[in-house]
Amino acid sequence: MAIQRTFSIIKPDATNRNLTGAINAKIEAAGLRIVAQKRIHLTKAQAGVFYGVHKERPFYGELCDFMSSAPIVAQVLEGENAIARYREVMGATDPAESAEGTIRKEFALSKGENSTHGSDAPETAAEEIAYFFSGLELVG
Ligand code: RTP
Ligand code: MG
Repeated sequence: MAIQRTFSIIKPDATNRNLTGAINAKIEAAGLRIVAQKRIHLTKAQAGVFYGVHKERPFYGELCDFMSSAPIVAQVLEGENAIARYREVMGATDPAESAEGTIRKEFALSKGENSTHGSDAPETAAEEIAYFFSGLELVG
């Protein structure tokens, strides 16, 4: 499998609880390299664009409120099979269903406030990276 890049967010529930370092320790221990990183506070409209794929879902409004409630850390991760690897490291969306040792099992508060985001496919990874970073900011 070739080297891939994926997009990662450390969500407001995690930045609020000072968990950025603990989450990134798990990411780095899994062999993923952080090649871009910034801490930003999204507006509700910016969160809405990012999660636009879910706009018809019942949780969309709550999700946009949550994602704009406090700072996030936006990151690009690089490594072998990075998209699937990072989703494995994060665990299932709902912490009640996540495997032991995963980020969400250890840190998530609920299915909504679940500490991290990770891209789900090469196309979405490319779109999400381009929404947050310019090519000059990717320094792998
Ligand atoms: P993400 O996109 O954040 O990496 O999460 P995911 O692929 O595991 O899950 P997805 O289905 O894409 O959902 C996006 C985010 O919406 C919130 N959510 N809340 N209350 C609910 O039933 C519910 N379902 C999803 C979560 O924050 C989820 O990560
Ligand atoms: Mg998703």
